[in-house]
Amino acid sequence: QKLDLELAAIEKGGYDHFMIKEINEQPHTIYDCLRGRLDPVAGTITMAGVQNNIEQLKNAQRIVMIACGTSWHAGLVAEYVFEELCRIPVEVEYASEFRYRNPVINKGDVIIAISQSGETADTIVAIDKAKEQGAFIFGVVNVVGSSIARLSHAGAYTHAGPEIGVASTKAFTAQLAVLTMVALKIALEKGTITHDRYMHLLNELHEIPDKVKLLLEDAENVKAIGLKYKDAGDFLYLGRGYNFPVALEGALKLKEISYIHAEGYPAAEMKHGPIALVDEKLPVVFVATKDAYYDKIVSNIQEIKARKGQVIAVITENDETIPTMSNDIMFVPEADEIVAPMLSVIPLQLLSYYIGVAKGLDVDKPRNLAKSVTVE
Ligand code: G6P
Repeated sequence: QKLDLELAAIEKGGYDHFMIKEINEQPHTIYDCLRGRLDPVAGTITMAGVQNNIEQLKNAQRIVMIACGTSWHAGLVAEYVFEELCRIPVEVEYASEFRYRNPVINKGDVIIAISQSGETADTIVAIDKAKEQGAFIFGVVNVVGSSIARLSHAGAYTHAGPEIGVASTKAFTAQLAVLTMVALKIALEKGTITHDRYMHLLNELHEIPDKVKLLLEDAENVKAIGLKYKDAGDFLYLGRGYNFPVALEGALKLKEISYIHAEGYPAAEMKHGPIALVDEKLPVVFVATKDAYYDKIVSNIQEIKARKGQVIAVITENDETIPTMSNDIMFVPEADEIVAPMLSVIPLQLLSYYIGVAKGLDVDKPRNLAKSVTVE
């Protein structure tokens, strides 16, 4: 018993929980994911799984992302990235829905299956189904040699290392890093990106690990915000564009770890329903970093403020406007909008962690949840 406890403490590397250890590992895990692949000086991305199948990938009439949970949110971010950079239509499907529908799959369709564990039952069956109908399967998987890795025609590992906390954190940012590299490589081959923009984004990706390190220094601030709102009964998370899936992921993390009801929404959709919930007790988390949607999200914040909601905003560090209209602020370093989700999600991971801990919950093994859902 004592030995088990000591072993567990060693595995946590001095942290109280695996979740916070894994959140803090992200500068390294993202670096490991980019290492050996991305060369911002030479302007190259080396990924055999993409290179060896480049004709198939760049000529895809359609890409369908298939995943569950947090991995599905990575697929949603990737939808924005692939459509913008590669000009290929993308659909993002819950594996569980896809497998039971009679989905239209055409020859030449590319399925990108995203999974940390590589063992999620619904994702496995969805892949089988798409494969039977002639689709090309590209796996984005963390666990080497897992079922999904073996079922895929090609793929790229995320190299985030073992993820023990049930709620996914470092696997998510590694998925985004891999998917962005795949999109950039296809875009370059397809000629849908200018050389300047390509080089710029390579640099932006390269700088992510250092920026993550910087934003993690703000953890005490996030903790204080968590303590302030830990007794709220509901949270609303809002974002637009690349940050819309981040809002969904922030809400999912809060539900999983803190057992607080939370909903993620595209910020503009709030007027079609959720705005009815806003009163002086409702914390509304805005993911509002500087991007093409910035002015629009500032007006959404004003709409919430006018209804006396408690505004908590994730913003770019030099932003002077949003702090004047928010109750609480979490900072991330400036970054191109394509890579920004890898930063903006991290304060939200921390927020749910600190609230869960403050409530005395088992953040590494939340009730009713499994790390890998191997039954349907
Ligand atoms: C479970 C886990 C989630 C994960 C999801 C998909 O629900 O608790 O953290 O996002 O499965 O898992 P996968 O291994 O396929 O990414």
